[in-house]
Amino acid sequence: MKTSLIILAAGKGTRMNSDLPKVLHAVAGDAMLVHAMAAGATLSPERTVVVAGHGAEAVTAAAQSYDETATVVVQTEQLGTAHAVEQAKDALAGFEGTAIVLYGDTPFVSPETLQEMMRAAQDADVVVLGFKAADPGRYGRLIVEGQSLERIVEFKDATEAERAVTLCNSGVIACNATLLFDLISAVGNENASGEYYLTDVIGLARARGLSATAVTCDESETLGVNSRAQLAEAEAAFQSRARAALLENGITLQAPETVYLARDTAIGRDTVIEPNVVFGPGVTVESGAVIRAFSHLEGCHVSRGAVVGPYARLRPGTELEENTRIGNFVELKNTTIAEGAKVNHLSYIGDAFVGAQANVGAGTITCNYDGVMKHHTHIGARSFIGSNTMLVAPVHVGDGAMTGSGSVITSDVEPDALALSRAPQVEKPGMARKLRDILIAKKAKQQRGS
Ligand code: UD1
Ligand code: CA
Repeated sequence: MKTSLIILAAGKGTRMNSDLPKVLHAVAGDAMLVHAMAAGATLSPERTVVVAGHGAEAVTAAAQSYDETATVVVQTEQLGTAHAVEQAKDALAGFEGTAIVLYGDTPFVSPETLQEMMRAAQDADVVVLGFKAADPGRYGRLIVEGQSLERIVEFKDATEAERAVTLCNSGVIACNATLLFDLISAVGNENASGEYYLTDVIGLARARGLSATAVTCDESETLGVNSRAQLAEAEAAFQSRARAALLENGITLQAPETVYLARDTAIGRDTVIEPNVVFGPGVTVESGAVIRAFSHLEGCHVSRGAVVGPYARLRPGTELEENTRIGNFVELKNTTIAEGAKVNHLSYIGDAFVGAQANVGAGTITCNYDGVMKHHTHIGARSFIGSNTMLVAPVHVGDGAMTGSGSVITSDVEPDALALSRAPQVEKPGMARKLRDILIAKKAKQQRGS
């Protein structure tokens, strides 16, 4: 069955008390909108339409950075969820298939639940995702008779008896696109909020003799974020699920509650993660690696058998090949460390290639930035970079070469050569004692004078 997504993301999110549109607040390193888009993307949608409003420019950028084919339409006035969905009509012109409506502020609806809705949409004209709420609060209530979903009543418009219903509306709807827009055109705004409610399409469909049904999921999937407190809850819920999933998949977390994961963190079996490690977006760690305490990783790939940290920082574009060693206070950016190479202490290596089995000494720095442009450093295989070497890029150190410690390397080094660039050592016998005597005498004179 063909699918298209309509993701509602026009709301301001007043209760966030923020300049940033609500759907751009991040959970696990990605905007909530991106979580919703990623869940929907598992259905391989033909088209994805994001309905933006508040902060439309920023919302557009975020949506298209995740999926450059996504269409963003702007709802200039927020007149209700049905009105919001209606904004997607032109963008879905000619599409024949099922439209799924998701909310940009409801990040955790699972791919499995969406699949189940698609299955249910083969039998029913309208499918709504519901959940049993521990505290139904102000959610819309699903009014079900037998297997049939008869209508949804919003809290504000509900009677006491209807408010006692605990089966609530998540907001997610699946319906044939043409039918959905047809039903929406019949939605009015005579209700307690004066809004065009998407939820009215259920009653309208039933009045036409069409069928409607509810699929249910766990309440944790429908968690919606309206405030910073709920954002923090969403983050905590994500983290505890993601940690549990890693443990389940054979990864050791020595102190799970201190490890922070991103939406897309992927870690292989038998990898060990020590306490206080933070994973930003875009990290893949293969099997059998060790990430030691207090390391921070983002946009990088760590291969089998690599050991990272403690206190290492891997920035975007870092590629660690097998059995590499990255030690304490080492920062890597846009750099490949080839098999078996080591950068063990106090270094910055950026825009570089470090060849297999090379050893980069303590305090080595690639001077990659001239204040205007970035330049590349090549460190050859099996080379030995002496401690405190400054590699002024662009520069190329050949395979098997050495640099003397403290050298500032400004020109290329041939393979197997030793490059030295530092002032030669001079020694003046007795000079230290002489100097000390002069200084002591000077201090004594000052003290007498004062
Ligand atoms: C909605 C549902 C309610 C459900 C609840 C689940 C309706 C009428 N009510 O209520 O049954 O239990 O969600 O969280 O649908 N939005 C727009 N444009 C608009 C209005 C809303 O894009 O004009 C977006 C919002 O940004 C938000 C989503 O739609 O992402 C839901 O809107 P919101 O106003 O929060 O609806 P609720 O009152 O919570
Ligand atoms: Ca809401």
